[in-house]
Amino acid sequence: MDAADMGRDLSNVLISEDELQTKIKELAGQIDADYAGKDLLIVGVLKGAVMIMADLARALHIPVQMDWMAVSSYGAGTKSSGVVRVLKDLDTDIANRHVLVVEDIIDSGLTLSWLLNNLQSRNPASAEICALLRKPDAVKVPIDVKYVGFDIPSEFVIGYGLDYAERYRNLPFIGTLAPHVYGGE
Ligand code: PRP
Repeated sequence: MDAADMGRDLSNVLISEDELQTKIKELAGQIDADYAGKDLLIVGVLKGAVMIMADLARALHIPVQMDWMAVSSYGAGTKSSGVVRVLKDLDTDIANRHVLVVEDIIDSGLTLSWLLNNLQSRNPASAEICALLRKPDAVKVPIDVKYVGFDIPSEFVIGYGLDYAERYRNLPFIGTLAPHVYGGE
């Protein structure tokens, strides 16, 4: 799926496919250097992180293992509540392992804050975060994000794993939706 397939539903391309892929190679280079000689498990948070996990893993030169978690915020609406339910846990025991959580976006920061605490309680050798996108509110939550792709404005973004009502995840870029899609003018 690309911009032409979106027609009038696309408002703006915020981060192009080229910009994403260049940034992912840069992040992979940092991760390669930081974890050289170490055994690394990368953990993707479903479903949004599928694209970044797939591209990041292929851009890395170090061998990694891959695992997945699925979590869901309690409560209605689109905002995180900070209370998280684990829908799918890791298949892997992470005690004494180096873990890197890979996320598509940090918005309020509440999901990752909870997730990192949860993983820390399993006594990993280390637990760090790589987030492709970070919104301004996330800065207010005291979590240390080791790798950030792009700091973006507080807009509703879609594409490259990010959805609106489960659609648009399969766009190769990050974009914004035209207001008519979600009921605006
Ligand atoms: C998104 C994203 C993060 C979370 C970030 O997931 O992938 O997990 O929201 O929000 P926060 O920083 O405000 O907590 P979402 O719940 O939309 O699920 P999805 O990945 O399946 O689309």
